[in-house]
Amino acid sequence: MNTFNVYPVYDITPVKAKGSKLWDDKGIEYLDLYGGHAVISIGHSHPRYVKAIQDQVAKLGFYSNSVKMPLQDELALKLGELSGLSDYQLFMSNSGAEANENALKLASFYNGRKNVIAFSKGFHGRTSAAVAATDNPSIQAAINFADHVTILPFNDVEAVKAAINDETCAVIMEGIQGVGGVHVATPEFQMAIREACSKHGAVFIHDSVQCGYGRSGHFFSFQDTELKPDIISMAKGMGNGFPVGGILISPKFEAKYGMLGTTFGGNHLACTAAIAVLDVMKEESLVEKAKELGDYTIDKLKPLLSSGKIKEIRGKGLMIGIEMKEPIKAIRESLIFQDKIFTGASGANTLRLLPSLNVKKEELDTFIEAFRAKLF
Ligand SMILES: Cc1ncc(COP(=O)(O)O)c(C=O)c1O
Repeated sequence: MNTFNVYPVYDITPVKAKGSKLWDDKGIEYLDLYGGHAVISIGHSHPRYVKAIQDQVAKLGFYSNSVKMPLQDELALKLGELSGLSDYQLFMSNSGAEANENALKLASFYNGRKNVIAFSKGFHGRTSAAVAATDNPSIQAAINFADHVTILPFNDVEAVKAAINDETCAVIMEGIQGVGGVHVATPEFQMAIREACSKHGAVFIHDSVQCGYGRSGHFFSFQDTELKPDIISMAKGMGNGFPVGGILISPKFEAKYGMLGTTFGGNHLACTAAIAVLDVMKEESLVEKAKELGDYTIDKLKPLLSSGKIKEIRGKGLMIGIEMKEPIKAIRESLIFQDKIFTGASGANTLRLLPSLNVKKEELDTFIEAFRAKLF
């Protein structure tokens, strides 16, 4: 049997990883500044994470949500504490798309409406309601086409104020657009959505799947404002590679049995992985580190603007986009094959850096030097 060939891949086979380093099957060492699309938050194979998962799988790897799950309660407690959102409720799933699917569904259960507002260049995943709110026709099949979604320009306060009305079910947005090119939502834009949603009984969904979980230098990227979204979706860094997703649900939503559900979501191993991630984030002050290392990287990248080859450097914390004036394909290939550095891309022209939150300064310097050498 062959695998269904939907992924263009680099000819590299990683077999081992530690911290921000990866080794392939030929023993070649790579620096990982991408974390497999923003997933590696506490570094590959963190000893505490490995031990927690090993111990748990030896005891009980899985049981479904039909029995008591103290591990889910422990996770909710620790997540509430670290994020500062202890009054929210946690529902767990397995991926980012699923988290958004549940967020949109819950919003519709809440106000009985179906019209959704989403934003240009946004990405929310590939399941039915999530992909319908995603501004990319090439990933929508006929079965996904929906006339209930309005796509508006990102960061356009007036457009969003004019569009939200008493028939709006939900507004879904990323705090920092990842796939769309590392575009940071302004505080005014987010507060305008908050105000209009509250006025019209619409639900504000903050898709924090990529920009959440400490990456922005705050636990959630909106936490440099007073903003309180109604639902926050999470995944990626939540499990450091173990497939875990979830939504944080504000106290105004009341749960009913059967309203949402999943077989695998929130199982024993998933909770153990997610708890280990939070414990490491707390002990190693990784949210603060993401801010410090992000500021450091952006400061060191700024002088490279003088090369005349960079259009813009964007981002917050360890979610950084470098938009070039020309396509980045050759630079990215040279970084991976010559310098042995993994980076990501957003569209044709933007290089995306999504390192683990405990990447070392020297490792960031290694990238900056290698990148500088390609510009001058
Ligand atoms: C902002 C955002 N939301 C949702 C998703 C979908 O997550 P997943 O691939 O885990 O379904 C992604 C994935 O890149 C994302 O970046």
